[in-house]
Amino acid sequence: MSSQTPTNWMPVASADYTNLEELGYVTLNIRIEGDVPAKRRFVYTWKSSNGTEHGQTDPQRLASFNFLPPHDGRFFLNADVTDGVGITRSAGMWVKIGDVAEDDFKRPPIPDDSAQTVIDVDDVSMIFNMASEQYNSLKEYFIALAHHELSFKEFRALDHVSFEVKRGEAFGLVGTNGSGKSTMLKIIAGVLEASEGTCTVTGSIAPLIELGAGFDMDLTARENIYLNGSLLGYRKEFIDEHLADIVEFAELKDFMDMPLKNYSSGMVARIAFAIATVAEPDILIVDETLSVGDFLFQQKCMRRIQELIGSGNVTVLLVSHSIEMVEAMCDRVCWIEKGHQRMIGPTDDVCAAYRNLGL
Ligand SMILES: Nc1ncnc2c1ncn2[C@@H]1O[C@H](COP(=O)(O)OP(=O)(O)OP(=O)(O)O)[C@@H](O)[C@H]1O
Ligand SMILES: [Mg+2]
Repeated sequence: MSSQTPTNWMPVASADYTNLEELGYVTLNIRIEGDVPAKRRFVYTWKSSNGTEHGQTDPQRLASFNFLPPHDGRFFLNADVTDGVGITRSAGMWVKIGDVAEDDFKRPPIPDDSAQTVIDVDDVSMIFNMASEQYNSLKEYFIALAHHELSFKEFRALDHVSFEVKRGEAFGLVGTNGSGKSTMLKIIAGVLEASEGTCTVTGSIAPLIELGAGFDMDLTARENIYLNGSLLGYRKEFIDEHLADIVEFAELKDFMDMPLKNYSSGMVARIAFAIATVAEPDILIVDETLSVGDFLFQQKCMRRIQELIGSGNVTVLLVSHSIEMVEAMCDRVCWIEKGHQRMIGPTDDVCAAYRNLGL
């Protein structure tokens, strides 16, 4: 890179509210730190906090943008800055217009010992048998089986894990890939049986565990709502009554009579989430299901989960690779690493320790 095209520059955003009261706009100012590139273009974008409203400017030379908010609320303002050789860097920030209630969701407080225990995981281990030889065909496998040559290696996906979850908690499980989080959730949901130890659950469970579990891909979405609903213990009359709510929440009105195999994975997730949360389950289990939904649907699901948590009746078990999401939602977290329980405690402590893993 020649000295004419410096690349060590970075845009920094700041907001100026001085014209808000009189003229009704907020100014986003972009300062360039480092070697300011000679030719620079700015494209400004904004979006409302729920993502439904947004806008974009043409490329321009001005390092500031006057944003006229359409109404009170929180908005994200962003600048994409492109230099003469086409390198683009972004800077953005949230601005608050008017009397906006701060994010009114508060993660639930950590309950005291007298609160009812709804999930009791007591010294649970899960051992999977894995064939220790590789067989190239089913025929080879059966020959080995017939000759009693088949040997298995034991694999401990969970090793002596214990925790209790109290009623009304939002309990998070974190850990790197393959650490046993989904296995733990399946044991709690009753899909898998623990090899050792016990797991006791009090109340009804709505599990959002594996995409498509509880669905028949050859049936239509409508038929699957009834099928999945019955697996969740809803009566047919209940589903009749709530079908419109489910379809509306999933926003898939025009696709109800299409076989599920033609749905995208995000569409399946929408249906699954809508059914699982149409009634208030005692325990809602969410395993990363939301990550396949688009950002608008994810926000909608988060709000629904927050409503359920806010009701104080529902216990939520959340597995997510988004540490921010876990921090926003959960009062306590258990960190499972390669099958071992590494740490359990208040969210901030556990998430801070988990974050340090990457340092
Ligand atoms: N049915 C099974 N048979 C054999 N091994 C399994 C089975 N299910 C899971 N495992 C193994 O158990 C370990 C834990 O898997 P699990 O899916 O619980 O991890 P996870 O923490 O959910 O990971 P991720 O973050 O990738 O979702 C993995 O090594 C996986 O290969
Ligand atoms: Mg998993």
